[in-house]
Amino acid sequence: MDEECDYLFKAVLIGDSGVGKSNMLSRFAKDEFRLDSKPTIGVEFAYRNIRVKDKLIKAQIWDTAGQERFRAITSSYYRGALGALLVYDITRRSSYESVGRWLVELREFGGEDMVVILVGNKCDLGESREVEEEEGKEFAETEGLCFMETSALKNLNVEQVFLQMITKIL
Ligand code: GTP
Ligand code: MG
Repeated sequence: MDEECDYLFKAVLIGDSGVGKSNMLSRFAKDEFRLDSKPTIGVEFAYRNIRVKDKLIKAQIWDTAGQERFRAITSSYYRGALGALLVYDITRRSSYESVGRWLVELREFGGEDMVVILVGNKCDLGESREVEEEEGKEFAETEGLCFMETSALKNLNVEQVFLQMITKIL
């Protein structure tokens, strides 16, 4: 850990394959986006130092594979995570319908006080939308989660969603 850092936070990105988790992280950590990104194998991670409320935070973000065959590995990475971004794709209803299952896993393998933010990604594709923003928002409220729609492609709300998570952890 860097000496000038006040805190080291671990957080995880979870959700179905193809919802855009890796691109959200590359946007946040390196300001990069790829249209042709490949599915994540197992787990990867990236760091970013960020200043919030006058504290220098080193955010260590674990990007997990959404594919079913990696489930057993990825859930073992939830331990010690203080925050999670649970991502679905607003243009793919099945990814939204999976959110409940991801939540069950988070609550089983993650800590009790974990800050969870429900994220509807790909909001740049409004014409193909299959999940209304209001629906995501209401579901998040009933589950006690924060909620935001993002676009990793257009760089909309990506910084904000990570910042919101970190601010809630602090
Ligand atoms: P797994 O690693 O398999 O779990 O998938 P993932 O959630 O990491 O998805 P990934 O970031 O690899 O993105 C999947 C596809 O969606 C890629 O073709 C991306 O370019 C595309 N994508 C990601 N975010 C956005 C977005 O905000 N808008 C649009 N239009 N496409 C996006
Ligand atoms: Mg990925």
